Amino acid sequence: MYQKLHKIIVTGGAGFIGSEFVRQGVKNGYRIVVVDNLSYAGDLARLKDVRSHIKFYKVDISQREKLEAVFRKEKPEAMVHFAAETHVDRSIKDAKPFLSTNILGTQNLIELAIKYSLKKMVHISTDEVYGQSTMGWFKETDPIQPRNPYSATKASAELLVNAARVTYGLPVVIVRPSNNYGLWQYPEKFLPVIISSALKDQPIPVYGKGAQIREWLHVSDCARAVFTVLEKGKPGEVYNIGTKFESRNIDTVKRILKLLGKGEELITFVPDRPGHDFRYSVAWEKLKKLGWSPRVSFKDGIQQTIAWYTKNQAWVEKKKKGS
Ligand SMILES: NC(=O)c1ccc[n+]([C@@H]2O[C@H](COP(=O)([O-])OP(=O)(O)OC[C@H]3O[C@@H](n4cnc5c(N)ncnc54)[C@H](O)[C@@H]3O)[C@@H](O)[C@H]2O)c1
Repeated sequence: MYQKLHKIIVTGGAGFIGSEFVRQGVKNGYRIVVVDNLSYAGDLARLKDVRSHIKFYKVDISQREKLEAVFRKEKPEAMVHFAAETHVDRSIKDAKPFLSTNILGTQNLIELAIKYSLKKMVHISTDEVYGQSTMGWFKETDPIQPRNPYSATKASAELLVNAARVTYGLPVVIVRPSNNYGLWQYPEKFLPVIISSALKDQPIPVYGKGAQIREWLHVSDCARAVFTVLEKGKPGEVYNIGTKFESRNIDTVKRILKLLGKGEELITFVPDRPGHDFRYSVAWEKLKKLGWSPRVSFKDGIQQTIAWYTKNQAWVEKKKKGS
């Protein structure tokens, strides 16, 4: 079952999870070609330690011809597709860029994967495609019922890759990770907002009453899971990636404040996000059978993340100004 694919195209490799995947890939001896349009969320600084070991193309996946030139030149064996518009709040304000990148961009990649006979495509989806849950854990066979524009585009992309598998034999495997956290996450996301606001003694915005529940997955564990699926995942299969570590948002905020020695008076409740999913949680036994399980506990991972953001406030401020 083990398949070592040497040369891989990684879309969105300058993003939060994609860059962790690239750093691990270089360490593991893969030849990596990154395709990323360096949107507001992309940053080559994340790849500075491995920059001389990879090839980088600043290309938008919605631009078919430029994208094809990369495939023609590089002749990759496989592709891991992370590139996406990823912020739910932005999708609520304007869904169009999400349609362009997450749906049309994915379709371009599907067509090129078929045309250039790639041996495998790993499509990075999200647990958000299941919609919200109140109890139990989503299994890969559960229906997808996205409830916000971001997750609707991610679900659409899944349907397209699956249709290409059935129609043209695209050897695609889909993964659905839960909420990632860790180093280099863009400052607009939940944990970076909490940490950087708290560090500056600024109000920490919490949607509603903070009752929503998220399942936290360290980015290094997520990237390692994607390698497991790249090497051992069966085309046509879907694999959840999770931890079963769940926390209410308000408890996550309080935990971080405590670790930083800050008071809970910084917590500021703001009107809830429209259509805010209450809880996501996934069953990942299927992936466990391929030999993966998470290694970083939330206790250790959150401390490491806080330390990183404390040290890298200048990057956070730069990114905030840039967007
Ligand atoms: N972060 C999470 O908690 C999480 C959870 C589950 C699934 N995912 C999925 O994982 C993937 C990566 O998420 P992330 O958090 O690293 O996102 P991110 O926003 O940090 O990175 C996305 C990357 O894609 C690039 N990109 C955006 N539009 C592009 C385009 N048109 N052409 C080329 N590149 C483009 C950006 O420049 C950026 O480098 C996404 O597909 C996302 O849906 C993320």
